[in-house]
Amino acid sequence: MSNPKILVTRTLPAPAEKILNDSLDVDYARDPLGIARDEMLRRVADKDGLVCQLNETINEELLAAAPRLKVVATVSVGFNNIDVAACTRRKILATNTPGVLDDTTADFAIALMLAVARRVVEGDKFLRAGEWTGWNVSHYLGSDVWGKTLGILGFGRIGKEVARRASGFKMRVIYHNRQRADAASEREVNATFVNMDTLLRESDFLSIHAPLTPETKHIISKDALAKMKPTSYLINTARGPVVDEAALNDALENKVIAGAGLDVYEREPEVTPGLIPRHNVVLAPHLGSASVETREKMAVLAATNVAEFFAGRRPRTPLNPEVLAP
Ligand code: GLV
Repeated sequence: MSNPKILVTRTLPAPAEKILNDSLDVDYARDPLGIARDEMLRRVADKDGLVCQLNETINEELLAAAPRLKVVATVSVGFNNIDVAACTRRKILATNTPGVLDDTTADFAIALMLAVARRVVEGDKFLRAGEWTGWNVSHYLGSDVWGKTLGILGFGRIGKEVARRASGFKMRVIYHNRQRADAASEREVNATFVNMDTLLRESDFLSIHAPLTPETKHIISKDALAKMKPTSYLINTARGPVVDEAALNDALENKVIAGAGLDVYEREPEVTPGLIPRHNVVLAPHLGSASVETREKMAVLAATNVAEFFAGRRPRTPLNPEVLAP
């Protein structure tokens, strides 16, 4: 019998490709700019499996174009690119990559916090422009990070890792989550549960770690921003639409808050144009999990899920395990 055929939409780290190549017939789309939608629809038509990434939409249209498809693995923890309900209706397994990117993403939230508060990017630009004439007592003064209050919205694995890091900066950590965490988790990372209003009003740095759901879309609205301190900073490494980006731009314009560190945007790769010239905003191109080590772990997990599925074993991180035989 011939091996199952799968489409992989990007070049993956070698260990992940090896896992796939060992037991599957793999069609790699290797354009560094990504696979065009019409090409993806064409190449997925005869495939049994698909390894995709965040900016590729797996919806009814794609599933209809792929009548043999049995498994879709996204190389990301977020899976808002996949219509999981549509997969389930067609008995297609969907998988993501939770757990392997928590520390790396938490590091990046801290990096954005430090970069925007301590004006790292502004200082770098100034130096490279050849404008530095020497140490100056009043140059590029930022805000301290240490000792401040860090508010965490979304206290899942990544939110907890951010809290754990904050104690090294002697920060007070408060958090809000749909469900309060158990006392042991709170104690472990020294975080205190508060309601949403208190989170907004008391945070010097508000870091978002909630997934994008209908409930969290635009949870950081104009009204929410208005409750924040004028000296506070918003950090978003979760999903762009959790923040009303136009309202954030207005809040920055009107000095409602002091600045922002953003890794994600409402309409990636577009960024609200008003944000681009702002000196008090650090803008990263969705790099939260982008370390060599972590991207390899993510790709290996996605590849392993697909290989295990076709070997008749239970993949490690299914999103809709109900489609698997008991
Ligand atoms: C990145 O944003 C991911 O969801 O893995």
